[in-house]
Amino acid sequence: MDKHLIGVIGLGVMGQNLALNLERHGYSVAGFDLDEKKRLEFSRKVAGKKAAAYPTLEEFVVHLEVPRKILIMVPAGQAIDAVISSLRGQLAAGDILIDGGNSHFLDTERRLRELEGTGILFVGSGISGGEEGALWGPAIMPGGNPLAWPHLREMLQAIAAKADDGTPCCTWIGPGGAGHFIKMVHNGIEYADMQMISEAYFLMARLLALSAEEMSVVFENWNAGPLKSYLIEITARVLRKRDEETGKPLVELILDTAEQKGTGKWTSQAALDLGVPAQTIAEAVLARMLSALKEERVRAADQLSGPRPVPAKDRDEFIEKIRQALYAAKICSYAQGFQIMRAADRDYWWHFDFGAIASVWRAGCIIRAQFLDRIREAYQRASDLANLMLDAYFREALHSCQQAWREVIVRAVENGIPCPALGSALAYYDGYRSAVLPANLIQAQRDYFGAHTYRRVDKPGVFHTVWTD
Ligand code: 6PG
Repeated sequence: MDKHLIGVIGLGVMGQNLALNLERHGYSVAGFDLDEKKRLEFSRKVAGKKAAAYPTLEEFVVHLEVPRKILIMVPAGQAIDAVISSLRGQLAAGDILIDGGNSHFLDTERRLRELEGTGILFVGSGISGGEEGALWGPAIMPGGNPLAWPHLREMLQAIAAKADDGTPCCTWIGPGGAGHFIKMVHNGIEYADMQMISEAYFLMARLLALSAEEMSVVFENWNAGPLKSYLIEITARVLRKRDEETGKPLVELILDTAEQKGTGKWTSQAALDLGVPAQTIAEAVLARMLSALKEERVRAADQLSGPRPVPAKDRDEFIEKIRQALYAAKICSYAQGFQIMRAADRDYWWHFDFGAIASVWRAGCIIRAQFLDRIREAYQRASDLANLMLDAYFREALHSCQQAWREVIVRAVENGIPCPALGSALAYYDGYRSAVLPANLIQAQRDYFGAHTYRRVDKPGVFHTVWTD
């Protein structure tokens, strides 16, 4: 009986495409899904290839080469626990289970604990790149039981995207929930990137009255410079797309309420738990939430006043300023993402290699960008960099963009155009570079109403004052 080198449970689009990617690279694949329709669809797609779907979990397991390697591609949450518990009795010590979904890193840590003593090697792996990435090369961020890595390395690096220098976008991230943590932060950064791009779009639409097509050209041009990235590239394509029915730009017919599955929120929650200011990422999540209040916003639009936007006359100059604002704000949101990882690294002892993480994100994933090469270089120059903004390259970029960035925020505020992510990034930059902040007053207030005490700038110790006369 022919045995397969790897099994995939969950034959939705991601699972199917990863299976096809594995097969294309010479790894024979067994597939399983509870849904018969998906099994049949998979069987059709792999007809004549080194892959097969099996009708029961038992048959699926029996057809795997030992030690078994099983990639679980089912929705994050209870479904993963259900799969693990049905598999547990059928697996032996040394078998490897990989959760390739967007699981919360604490669930991954719990699953590792639950499998302790069984000998089953559990891996929580972030996989980014959507359907296309899964098929042609995603970025893969595995973490968990390190004993699994030598068995997976070749296979995962074979199917992963390759950066321009040929490096596979897959490396071992660390123990415990490290892989899923990194993927979660990737998604938080993804949310911020998307929000900031949409703010740039809104500014050009509201203040320059650019058509979708004209903006598409702007984004195309931006994609030829330091902003070059997948998200800028697809934005140009999205803006060019016309609705077949009406002939209008499709983007203008899409309801302005952004949905979310929660990974951006998790990133923000983790930042709060770790005490890391990551306001731009959080703003991106909150902006989606505000966008979801469509009915309330429509009602409020008639009741709450604001300035009428004044069209800008300096078209080309203003477009360039928006580009610079976007670039500077992007540096800040990435800086925040890396600060979250730094803090987690300290708390969880994951021993992250930040240069390697930036390297993994260079291709295949949703936030892939030329810019990540600069981040990789920054962490290669100084692995203990206190903040990405302090690296010479990024410091200089922030320095040269900041005048334009400030002007864009001023214009947005004057014209009543919400730019929460671009604006919060500037506040982050200004806050971080402030040797003195007004928190002295907060400390005085805390001490006034709660005797919470304060420290002084002129002498050591902890003080309390009776503030009332
Ligand atoms: C990826 C993406 C993906 C994510 C979607 C949708 O890296 O391939 O991050 O994992 O699920 O982008 O996320 P939201 O529904 O939360 O926008």
